[in-house]
Amino acid sequence: MYAELAEQKVNQLKRKGHYREFVTINRLCSKYPLAKVNQQEDHPVVVWCSNDYLGMSQHPEVLKAMHEAIELYGAGSGGSRNIGGTHHYYAELEASLAEWHSKEAALVFPTGYGSNDATIQCLTHIFTDCLILSDQLNHASLINGISSSKADKLIFRHNDVHHLEELLSSVPRERAKIIVFESVYSMDGDVAPIREIAALAKKYNALTFLDEVHAIGMYGPRGAGIAAQLGVADQIDFIQGTMAKAIGVIGGFIASSSILIDSVRSFASGFIFTTSLPPAIVAACLTSVEHLKRSERERSSLHEKTQKLREALAVRGIPVMESSETHILPVRIGDALKCKGAAKRLLDNHGIYLQPINSPTVPAGTERFRVNVTPNHTDEQIRSLVDGLVEVFGYFDILTPALQAR
Ligand SMILES: Cc1ncc(COP(=O)(O)O)c(C=O)c1O
Repeated sequence: MYAELAEQKVNQLKRKGHYREFVTINRLCSKYPLAKVNQQEDHPVVVWCSNDYLGMSQHPEVLKAMHEAIELYGAGSGGSRNIGGTHHYYAELEASLAEWHSKEAALVFPTGYGSNDATIQCLTHIFTDCLILSDQLNHASLINGISSSKADKLIFRHNDVHHLEELLSSVPRERAKIIVFESVYSMDGDVAPIREIAALAKKYNALTFLDEVHAIGMYGPRGAGIAAQLGVADQIDFIQGTMAKAIGVIGGFIASSSILIDSVRSFASGFIFTTSLPPAIVAACLTSVEHLKRSERERSSLHEKTQKLREALAVRGIPVMESSETHILPVRIGDALKCKGAAKRLLDNHGIYLQPINSPTVPAGTERFRVNVTPNHTDEQIRSLVDGLVEVFGYFDILTPALQAR
């Protein structure tokens, strides 16, 4: 009976075209964005949708730090932070992250997902009768933290400060409340009105929790993020980030005041009762963060190539969604089956890997490719991506305004 029930659920996904299939992509060390699909040596494909935004996962300094830590301390951490899993790299990384975000302290988690989920749940327990005000397009890790906490929640329309103010003004000033939002939204490539949200938080006595996962390393002075770029990092209570994207390794973190970090460290179940990251991972994160603080090269190349790609797509009539104001260039397909078919054809016929983004990650009817270039992509690879997209859009009759006009 249980197998049948599970199969019915999976079949529902398949019928809607929402069933996820993994593509085995072996990204080649020192050759990124090239990758082998199914170990086919002769025909590497070009990856166009990796979150390794700056190519740091293959940076020689990062690899060296990882190798050295393995030689010194072996593969695993051996326990939770509390029971034997706090090696010396942790103190160095947490100090480095706190300094990066101009905060008193930082706390590292095994993943960005876990840092959001565990921190939000924990804060709602610390602050009695806490109300969460959450942006409508927040990531699943934030939503899960909010739903699992059983705290009251109000959802404000995406990036809509007027709606947020309407909701805030309906709540007593002395009631604890947390505004949860992101700086760069990863499916649309747009940016939150952080300054305005911080001002509302101050006016209505709310705490702010800002997910900078898709900005860390790429925006702001020394890559400290969008809040830092706007000069308002000091008005944000929690800056949260990941080390799995621009930093190129894995792990999540929060940065805040000493007392707020200490409270999460002391009470968050998802922090306390899990094994800590291995020394080699933390050493690699530390090296990558320190490199990105010093070096502008990766950031400026990312932004320059993003502009190049944006223009190349526009010239050939492949529309990037208007929401995009960052390195994330979403191209709307608007149909789950066509999106999957187009991705397969790009891979098989053009050597291009773009993962179809379907519901529930994005609303049904807004299926898309989420394209992003990295400092490692060449002009030739940009040209071939655009050629491939034009061919595939034609093949599947994916109508763009430019194609419609022909
Ligand atoms: C906005 C946002 N927050 C958090 C996460 C989770 O980060 P991690 O992949 O490090 O678990 C993601 C991952 O895609 C994300 O997009």
